[in-house]
Amino acid sequence: MTYDLAVVGGTLVSGSGRKRADILVSGGRVVEVAAGAAAGADANRVVDASGKLVLPGMVDVHVHTREPGYTHKEDLVTCTRAAAAGGVTTIFGMPNLDPPTVTGTYLEEVLDLYRAKSIVDYNHNPVPAHGETEAMAESGVAAFKVYMVVDTGRTYPHPAGTGIHDHGHLLQMFEDVAATGRVFMVHPHDQALMDHVEQGYWKKGDRSPEAYAKTLAAYDGIIWDTATATLLRMAKATGCRLHIVHVQTIEGIEMIRRAKAEGVQVTAEVNHWALFLGTWDDVLELGPYCLSYWVPDHHRAAVWDAINDGTIDIVSSDHAPHTRAEKDVGWEDMWAAHTGTPGIQHQVPLLLDAAHHGKLTIERVVEVMAEVPARSFDIGSKGFLEPGFDADLMIVDPAKEWTIANDGVLSKIGWTPYDGREVVGAVERTFLRGIEIYGDGTVKGEPGFGRHVKPSLTRGMP
Ligand code: DOR
Ligand code: ZN
Repeated sequence: MTYDLAVVGGTLVSGSGRKRADILVSGGRVVEVAAGAAAGADANRVVDASGKLVLPGMVDVHVHTREPGYTHKEDLVTCTRAAAAGGVTTIFGMPNLDPPTVTGTYLEEVLDLYRAKSIVDYNHNPVPAHGETEAMAESGVAAFKVYMVVDTGRTYPHPAGTGIHDHGHLLQMFEDVAATGRVFMVHPHDQALMDHVEQGYWKKGDRSPEAYAKTLAAYDGIIWDTATATLLRMAKATGCRLHIVHVQTIEGIEMIRRAKAEGVQVTAEVNHWALFLGTWDDVLELGPYCLSYWVPDHHRAAVWDAINDGTIDIVSSDHAPHTRAEKDVGWEDMWAAHTGTPGIQHQVPLLLDAAHHGKLTIERVVEVMAEVPARSFDIGSKGFLEPGFDADLMIVDPAKEWTIANDGVLSKIGWTPYDGREVVGAVERTFLRGIEIYGDGTVKGEPGFGRHVKPSLTRGMP
């Protein structure tokens, strides 16, 4: 038999450990994984991974692709080029688009765009529109998404229909999503509390980035924690599978830990900026360029503990690109700026760097960025480098020292909040279904190569 690809001599890392092994690939799938498996085997392409680590491709379940509607920020080609360079082989897109993904028709239109343009495999999370959730689930969505946010003084990033503040409406969505068996992904936030706290700053004429950062983190995270409590209670009531994004407070983590112990079906996500950005020094120096959030240091420490003890299940990019102009207005009025932070290209190197500095193991990196997201969202073909799985992988040099810089950014916006950050650990090559989509510093994948990965019917909550 002639294999399509042999990756030889590398050290494979999974959540359960590492081993020296070759990988043989045929028809886009892993066929064999064993030390010496490539010796004597016939392969059309042999990639030498000796001295390197081989990791499954990242399954990034939280990506703001911006297409359709906001293609001046990003589009599906630029977003997935950045993904490929960052070791990301599957993305889940978010519904805050124009038109926002709030109907089955809009969902089909978005899926058509991915089909034509995405370089990596994909899924898309629509809002669970009442009466349409079953049909949406049947068209292959892995999860639904809403925000508990309304934007004050701006219409983005939460366009009409994507932000839900009415708890009765939210409970109905939990019921509807529960009936589909899919996961409900929610951004926790209490807008009434935000409105109250921000008034205090506005009355003083303070609309600075510091005021915005302090508003969101007021009373040690009350805006996030009260929302988290509501979500967990609704998940318990309805049996709906819940995925909470932006978990970044001590109380939030404790509530999730308790809920899991009680058997509530919940997974928790943290985003790269809560780990690597968003210190008070970052707020002062980068202002709008590092906001959404300031994560006070005691919360960040709890987040790292929760990643390591398994309370936080998933790290995602929440890649949220905005132009410099959309950010720059924030120096004067942060409430007029677009919030959100890009990062799809750099989260894996940042996690490798964190592993280098002993914050977590590379085995845990593999779990939080590939294995657990694939399993939690029932993507049965992804996340593991084992026979039968898609041959989605990255070859990583864990010792490579380099500096993240704006001029290497593939995202359309051309900037990263990590500009100048020195890291140890780099993605050298990325393969999707056995085809190299990034290598030698170049994106090689073609638009349209990405496929819609549909969830299997088994429920895979960890
Ligand atoms: O700050 C944010 N930006 N929060 C969100 O929920 C969405 C994101 C975006 O799309 O820019
Ligand atoms: Zn987001």
